[in-house]
Amino acid sequence: MKFFIETFGCQMNENDTERIQFLLENAGYDRTKDISESDIIILNTCTVRESAKNRQYGHIGNLKKIKNLKKDILICIGGCAAQDIKENIIKDFPYIDIVFGTQNIAYLPDLIKKRISTGRSICCIEDSGFDPELFKVRRKHSFRALVPITIGCDNYCSYCIVPMVRGKERSIEAEKILKNIEELVSDGAVEVTLLGQNVNSYGKNLRQPYTFSALLEKISDIKGLKRIRFMTSHPKDFSGDLIDVIKNRDNIAKHVHLPLQAGSDKILKEMNRNYTRKDYFGIIENIKNKIPDCAITTDIIVGFPGEEKEDFLETMGMIKKIRFNRAFTFIYSPRAGTRAAGMDDRITIDEKKQWFRQLLEIQNTISFEENNKLIGRRFEVLVEGNSSKNSALLEGRMENNTIVNFEGKSNLTGKIVPVIIDSARTFYVKGKLARG
Ligand code: 5AD
Ligand code: SF4
Repeated sequence: MKFFIETFGCQMNENDTERIQFLLENAGYDRTKDISESDIIILNTCTVRESAKNRQYGHIGNLKKIKNLKKDILICIGGCAAQDIKENIIKDFPYIDIVFGTQNIAYLPDLIKKRISTGRSICCIEDSGFDPELFKVRRKHSFRALVPITIGCDNYCSYCIVPMVRGKERSIEAEKILKNIEELVSDGAVEVTLLGQNVNSYGKNLRQPYTFSALLEKISDIKGLKRIRFMTSHPKDFSGDLIDVIKNRDNIAKHVHLPLQAGSDKILKEMNRNYTRKDYFGIIENIKNKIPDCAITTDIIVGFPGEEKEDFLETMGMIKKIRFNRAFTFIYSPRAGTRAAGMDDRITIDEKKQWFRQLLEIQNTISFEENNKLIGRRFEVLVEGNSSKNSALLEGRMENNTIVNFEGKSNLTGKIVPVIIDSARTFYVKGKLARG
């Protein structure tokens, strides 16, 4: 039997998809990229914003046609939206066969067998704590790997549904992480991305407390590991210590993704972010002083309940002053069960959209200008494969995460090569392969 998986949302979900693939292949199924030849369809869903959920509901709706044509096909819905909506998804779409929660991935092969033998739909959303086989994955690329270090989140930012669908924060023991990365490196990985909702709070709830900086140093000592990335960082836990570790270690990528969310103290407080704009400026100044080439990217929410024009202008002011390399911007989306969903929200959606456009315009200009500053310089680029937009070009990433397109042979995929940048766009740069 063949299975088809579609992944929505963040890298945590991508990593879960790699685990699903491992488990199902182990159970004798093969993955296919062609939905029409599949016997099992799996959607790994995201619910961080309503728009994402609606899009996936559209996809699930479209699967009805496939189910009508091929009655035995199994439709399985997992991920954060499944965890959030639970068996109600089956009420909305009665042709769904299996709903499985974010902590129940390991059960999927058994759930499939059970569904086939009983003929009845199953909803399995159980709090099973830690999956001991968290690191058993079928990786998409041999040269890079996603490595979860914490699961869940305890921060309860008032707009965010993640703590409800991913559970409380749990750190994975350092020895297990280190052993896993050593194995990955002997298996050909040159880059790892450490994953967690808030990686800087790593280790707080371990039996023997550990810090993220200490973990990073240990990982950085692993021979053969060329690049270490991590995301997401939280400003409230971003220590000066960590900045020193990033600065001092050559194989830690000079890139920090540090969500600002809002630039006004009033809104930050309402969001329960536990830092002020002054704190945030302080961290950025410290990073820029110590690591001048470090790229800084962020996430920003526009139109949080109670946000007024002055608050929005404070966010704009911060964006202009800090000059992020890139910002991921979102219009606030109320999520049922979060504290912000009950807050008074008076700003019209039209006004929010207008703010959003203003913010995007200024940020795009800044990203373009920052990328232009790279022209004429030479950077080490990890080649990820052919560019999705132009298959005649290769695509790779600089240490600071900037995407680079350049001419070269596909067999450079997975290698780190020198490239001289010769032109810039808003979201990527172009260059030429330099001599070794
Ligand atoms: N509405 C809009 N954006 C949100 N994010 C999280 N929850 C919401 C929401 N309810 C954004 C935050 C977070 C990113 C992953 O998604 O900016 O950092
Ligand atoms: Fe959500 Fe805040 Fe946790 Fe990030 S830190 S996952 S925004 S609650």
